[in-house]
Order: sequence, then structure tokens, then C-alpha cells
Amino acid sequence: MQLNRALTKNLRSLCLALIAAGAAISSSAQPADAVTVLKISADQVAAKVSPQLYGLMTEEINYSYEGGLYGELIRNRTFKANPTNALFWSALGGAAISLDTNQPLNAALNVSLKVEAKKAAKNSPAGIANAGYWGIPVRPNTTYHASFYAKGKSFSGSLTVSLVSSTGTNGGMVASAVVKKISSKWQKYEVTLTTGNVPASKENKLVISTTKRGTIWFSQVSLFPPTYNNRANGNRKDIMQLMADMKPSFLRFPGGNYVEGNTIPERFDWKKTIGPISDRPGHPSCWRYWSTDGMGLLEFLEWCEDLHMQPVLAVYAGYSLRDQHVTPGPDLEPYVQDALDEIEYVTGDTTTTWGARRAKDGHPAPFPLEYVEIGNEDWFDRSGSYDGRFAQIFDAIKVKYPKLQLIATTPVKSRTPDVLDDHFYRSSMEMQSDTHHYDKTDRNGPKIFVGEWATREGAPTPNMNAALGDAAWMTGMERNSDLVIMHCYAPLFVNVNPGGMQWRTDLIGYDALNSYGSPAYYAQVMFSANRGDVVLPVVSENLPTRDWQPPASRRGGATSTNLPPIQKVPTLFFNATRETKMGTIILKVVNSADAAQTVRVEIGGAGVDAKGEAIVLQANAADGTNSITEPTKIVPVAQAVEDLSGNFKRTFPPYSITVLRMKAR
Ligand code: AHR
Repeated sequence: MQLNRALTKNLRSLCLALIAAGAAISSSAQPADAVTVLKISADQVAAKVSPQLYGLMTEEINYSYEGGLYGELIRNRTFKANPTNALFWSALGGAAISLDTNQPLNAALNVSLKVEAKKAAKNSPAGIANAGYWGIPVRPNTTYHASFYAKGKSFSGSLTVSLVSSTGTNGGMVASAVVKKISSKWQKYEVTLTTGNVPASKENKLVISTTKRGTIWFSQVSLFPPTYNNRANGNRKDIMQLMADMKPSFLRFPGGNYVEGNTIPERFDWKKTIGPISDRPGHPSCWRYWSTDGMGLLEFLEWCEDLHMQPVLAVYAGYSLRDQHVTPGPDLEPYVQDALDEIEYVTGDTTTTWGARRAKDGHPAPFPLEYVEIGNEDWFDRSGSYDGRFAQIFDAIKVKYPKLQLIATTPVKSRTPDVLDDHFYRSSMEMQSDTHHYDKTDRNGPKIFVGEWATREGAPTPNMNAALGDAAWMTGMERNSDLVIMHCYAPLFVNVNPGGMQWRTDLIGYDALNSYGSPAYYAQVMFSANRGDVVLPVVSENLPTRDWQPPASRRGGATSTNLPPIQKVPTLFFNATRETKMGTIILKVVNSADAAQTVRVEIGGAGVDAKGEAIVLQANAADGTNSITEPTKIVPVAQAVEDLSGNFKRTFPPYSITVLRMKAR
């Protein structure tokens, strides 16, 4: 009886869970006697592929920069992560450590770490240690750059700066350097730490210690590894390379919610993110941890430069997440001016105020800028102020920068935006059922930027079923890319350590030492690297489908009584494009079924060489995935193909994404 009740309860919860998520209720069926056919017209153009279709979206979330892309290895380098505790710092050798607001470095870094080395002695050094973001990565034969501000009182000793392994021999010392004398006034000290032939590891900490007694204050303690393109204050090499492989056309930054902040003072206040890092106060990010703003406006732009992307700049538009808004009119004017100044910082030449400031910050050349987004997800603003805020910012930007394309985050009535930003976070079946979303959209309205989207299955990074949903959805965006001019997956990054993730399902995962791409990452790489410049018309016959029960309306709670009708959803998705210059025809096929499916491909209007190439991403199970310990379990494999023609058959494996590159004559 008890068991029965438990079983019934479990079954009921399972049914309700399926109702809430939507569920495939029959497996795919390729019609028994009917062959699936794709007829491609290689000599016709259905649409132009937008040249900047594939890009990246980024914000500070999931330790994306702090403990992620941004090269800094010291956690809480400015001691501002918590007002009362020196979080992530520990005392060594009996030293007493405390936060001190009476000895600030400057107005921005207005708290320092006071270290009282009362018991330091020759055989018993005292000092401080920091173990970074879930460890400090150390690699063999590598030079690290350490720096800090310090001043001493009744202290005449030297400081030893070391990288110490918690597992190694020799007291764990991996590399060290000495700062001979510490001034009684704030001064910056810099040393290099070079490792020998040590194994790569992340179980390390930075230690600053002394054998002499006295009091020392520290501010902005920093440690950088070699960075991508050797930029000072730059980015982690491995993660930059993963992005470079995606061949992205643009970077949408700095949010997302991060541009808005929880409150108006906690927005991304760009003017506080430029100049020397010691002048940046930092701020609490809306994703519940401190941001030093080491990744500031110029660093975002240099990231774009390094990966040959154009910036898509989101400006703060007077709405913050805890339902705070700035009333359009005079109250909004300072924010409008901030947005104009920001655009000038990005694009102005050195005769302009903010262009000159950018030059002073180290980058005299202006950056290209075509798109500016006004706010983020302003449908959340229940006051209804976005129409007015948008109009005011839109008008001011258009007067000064008439060529800029301005993006609205939700439909507005007051003005016609150039582009509208749509967001989709869905299950795999929801994505697969909606690949025709933009087929009938009015081509006379604003262009579409799908500025955030993802199939949210798998954590911390998406699994193969998510990649299949993504790829199916991308065939729809690519087919409609005369309208959908740009899109970017979100979120991009996650630190996979416990506590690192605030948002499930993120494209690229990493810890302090290693990084990896999810199957969904590889779907992006395959699509972006094989774009083509025109969409070819494709007609399909006998497309296999499965029955799908869409989720119940969440209004009033999910129940079995408010279920929408069952839908037939294809299990094969496709799009064909052509590289006009090279003559290459690119056919993308997604098989989301658990069985192989055979397709006859007929190509009209061009001859096709027998030899071509197939790039295939495939998994044995829908929930197959990559992880920090198995980073390359599911990766694309390129194969030579030798049986192509104007009429050929190909079998697509279960759970697969295929890019077929064919040479047209
Ligand atoms: O991508 C995560 C969050 O989702 C973004 O910050 C926000 O814009 C959206 O709600």
C-alpha cells in the first residue's frame, strides 16, 4: 500500500515534470516505404546570409572574467569582495590580518590589507597567501608577473613573493623572487616568477612573506600568467583560442543583466572601468560576486580586436534589475550623455574628449562600431518607461551618429528601431518544434538580432540533446538570415568548480588550468566556420517526424488539463548555403532521432564533384556530453566523401549534426 502510494506519487510527479518540460511521446519514424528527399536549387538564391550572423555574447556571470577569461589569478585582489573579511586571503606564520579603511591606496581602492607580522623570524616567515579562483594554475617553464602596492611601518625587512604548491616537495616552492625594501609610503612593487620543469597543476597559492617583524599594508595584489597576444592586463590564452576557433563576427557586451546591475549605482558604469586598474573601484555584479572591473570597456574592445570581431555595444538605458528605473526626461539626461560619451570613447578620433582619453589609456586608434543596443530585456520594466527611455536615447544617438544601427530590447511604439533583440531559452524539443519561427516574419519591420538563446539541457555545459536543439534552431536562423542578421548563444562561459555556476547550461567550461567546449560549442563552430554567403532554396519530401507533447501553460500552474495539442515535430533539420566565390555548396543536416536516417539529396542547377567533405558531430546518447575531465568525448570529425553527385543518398547517424561541403561545377 505504502509502496503503491509512493509509486503513484512518483509517477504523478514524473508526468507533471514531463508536462512542464514538454516531452517527446513517440520515437522518430522515418516513413517505412517513403524515402526522405532534399531538393536543392543550387542556381537560385533564397536569401543572403548575413555576413555577421554568428557572434558571441558576454557578461560577468558564472565567473566569466574574474576566475575565467580575464588573466588575473588572485581572487579578491583589491580586498573589496566583502566589507568586513579579507575573503580568500589567509595569514601565515602567526601574522594578524585585517581590512583597514584608514590606509587607502586612493579613492578607488579605499581599503587595504593590514598585516602585522608580530612573530616573524628567520625560520618562521610570516605573511599572506591567496589560493586564487579554485587554485592558481602553474605550468612548466613559464613566467608569471606579480605586482602589489605596499607600505611598511616599523618594518625594515624584505618580502619574498612565491608560488607555492600544496602538493610538491621543497616546502612546495615553485618559483620565488625577493623585494628587498618596502617604503613607508605607498609604492608599487613588481617581480617575475619563473617556473622550472614542474608539472602543470592548479593546487598552488601565491605567498608574500617576511622573516622580519613589523606592519605592512597591501593594496591590489596581482598575478598574471602570459596572456593572449601578450597583452598587459590581458586574457587567458586557452579560452581565447576556443573563441577564435568559433570565428565569431561580433561580441555583444557587457550584458545581459550585467549592464543593468541590481540597482542603478550597481550598473556597468563604464567610466569607472577605464584607465589604470588601480583607479578602478570595482562593483558588486548582479550575479552575486565582486567585479574588480579589470575587464573594463577598453579590455572588451581589445578582446574584439584580438578576435577580429566587431563590438555590439550595450549602453545602460535607465533600468536596473530590482525594478528601478530612471524617468525619461531630465532625469535620464546624464545617462544619455554617458551613452554618447561611451560611443565617443569607442569611435572618436583623438581630437575628441573621449577619443583622447582612449588614446591616453593606450589605444589611439578608434574602434569600428555599427550596432548599439539600448538596455537589456526591458520587458521586465513593469513601469512601462522603456518606450520613453528608448526614444530619448535613440534620438540623441541618431543626431550625433546617424549611421549607427540602434537595437531595441523589446518592441517600442515611439520610434522604429533598426533592430530588435529577441531572446530564447528553451528545451531541445521546444527549439526543434520552432525552427520556422522567422519564416513568415514581416520583412519590412526591424531586423532581428537573436541576442541571447540556448537550449538549456545539461549542466554546467550543454549535452548533445541541447546541441541538436541548437543546431536545428540555427538552420532556421540561417535560412532567415536576410532578417536575422546576428545571433549569439548565452551564456558563453562557466567556471565548473562548485559555486562557480549561477546559470545552468553554458557553452564553454573551465577550471583554473583547463577549458573545454561542450557539444553545443562544437555545433556553433561547425555552423560559423561553414556559413556560405547565400541561402539556397531546399524543398523536402517525406520528412520524418515524432509526436511531441508541448509543455502546459505555466499560467495557473502546469496541469494535465491545460495541455496544448500534440505536435508532429521533424527529426531531421537542414539548410543549404553556397560560397559564391568558391562555388562550394554547404548542406547542414541535423538528425535528432535515436536512429540513423537516410536521405536522398537532389541538386539542381549545378553539377557536383564526387569528392567532398563531411564534418560530423555525433554522440551515442542524447545526454552524452563533454566535461572538464572528458573534454573531447564529443568533437566534430572531418571525413573525405567520394560518392557525391547531383543525386546521391547519405545516411545520417543517430544524434548527429553534419556539414556536407560539396564542390559545385
Ligand atoms: O544569459 C543569462 C541572463 O539571461 C542574461 O543576463 C539576461 O539578459 C537573461 O535574462
